[in-house]
Amino acid sequence: MRQIAVFASGRGSNYEAIEKAILKNKIDGCRVALLVCDKPDAPVLKLAEKFNRKTFVFDPKGYKSKADYEADIVEALRDHKIDLVCLAGYMRIVGDTLLKEYKDRIINIHPSLLPSFKGKNGIKDAFEYGVKVFGVTIHYVSKEIDGGRIIAQRAFEYYGDDIVELEDRIHKLEHELYPQTIKKLIKEL
Ligand code: GAR
Repeated sequence: MRQIAVFASGRGSNYEAIEKAILKNKIDGCRVALLVCDKPDAPVLKLAEKFNRKTFVFDPKGYKSKADYEADIVEALRDHKIDLVCLAGYMRIVGDTLLKEYKDRIINIHPSLLPSFKGKNGIKDAFEYGVKVFGVTIHYVSKEIDGGRIIAQRAFEYYGDDIVELEDRIHKLEHELYPQTIKKLIKEL
């Protein structure tokens, strides 16, 4: 049984999609052993409680540096024998401490077709640019923001002018693609 950790900062809809896929036996051989969150009041923590998960919650303001809080995260990951780290709306840049410890074992989901529209506002930036093909990307996390090796992508055309509708379609796609990708990666670990 592989142990995965999900890192999230906000709503947690991707985290929930992963848990639901595991419950429906769509991802064999793994469980979420830890939810890591950098926002003590994030809604995702309520979800973790619902799924009865262990959490590691930290406030970066309470640490001197990224290296310091990441050292604590690494300790928690080791304690839970984590095999794979899945970032799901974790709105922090991953630093050397985590990257070294979990080399090629940290993945991220991003709501655009990378390398286009990197950063925090991938959907809004793509919409405002006026592209007509949107999508999601799952990639390995590297030093370069949203720049690691691409694992999976899925795309669709959208000619509408409703960003709420567009966001909804992108999130639906994320909720399918992330569990499917984790399933594949787990088999290769
Ligand atoms: C997701 O759309 C994810 O792709 C995005 O944050 C959202 C989190 O939603 N991540 C990034 O933009 C990373 N650059 P969720 O909390 O409901 O899963």
